Amino acid sequence: MLIDTHCHLSSEYYDDIDEVIRENRESGVSKIIISGCDKKGIKEVFEYAKKYEDVFLTIGYHPEEVDVISDDDLQELRSLLQSEKVVGVGEIGLDYHYVKDNRDKQIALFEKQLKIAEELKLPVVIHSRDAVKDTIDTLKKYKVKGVIHCFSGSLETALIYIKMGYKLGIGGVVTFKNSKLSEVVAKVGLSNIVLETDSPYLTPVPFRSKKNSSKYLKYIAQKVADVCGVSINLVEEETMRNAQDVFDLQ
Ligand code: NI
Repeated sequence: MLIDTHCHLSSEYYDDIDEVIRENRESGVSKIIISGCDKKGIKEVFEYAKKYEDVFLTIGYHPEEVDVISDDDLQELRSLLQSEKVVGVGEIGLDYHYVKDNRDKQIALFEKQLKIAEELKLPVVIHSRDAVKDTIDTLKKYKVKGVIHCFSGSLETALIYIKMGYKLGIGGVVTFKNSKLSEVVAKVGLSNIVLETDSPYLTPVPFRSKKNSSKYLKYIAQKVADVCGVSINLVEEETMRNAQDVFDLQ
């Protein structure tokens, strides 16, 4: 069985959520962790956690939300994080891809949420784009663990995160022809990764033209099995165990 440790299940992307959940189950995905990372999204994900037994949540404010999040919002987040079925804080982090002139503000929002995670003893799900150094420097200030979501960096960066106690979230990028991620995965091995789709984005090969969902997770697992030279069963077993450990799932 598989766990999709990171996806965005929302009526914004899918017309029929019941159908998506049914397809996920049929494809061998036993649990999914939905990430709610803006104000509207966080409200919506609780509906799904309530409705579906196999849905868990991480919630937190994405760096792109930096201009609209107040300290009151963070207070509210703190109390929501203590709800049933919430298993982590995220995705939170730094994104300098499009906007670079608000770095200080992004770091401040990131640190406030890391502090909450540390206090509540919850794992974090980290979004880091074009911001490796600041992400590492900021994470080092807090006693937290978790997942580097959608990891696609170098082996050197991977080893730094692993040494800090993080797992790498491996998704569809590992199946892309021009990606070096498969070489990194082969080197770091199964003990350091969890699987995710980040759906509706980043659909794995050979379904690139389709909207992603957790039902395609097995193609990511198969690619990982191929590059590590092991069976898909072993990939499922080890990544499931890693995800259960990180997010304290039964
Ligand atoms: Ni995401």
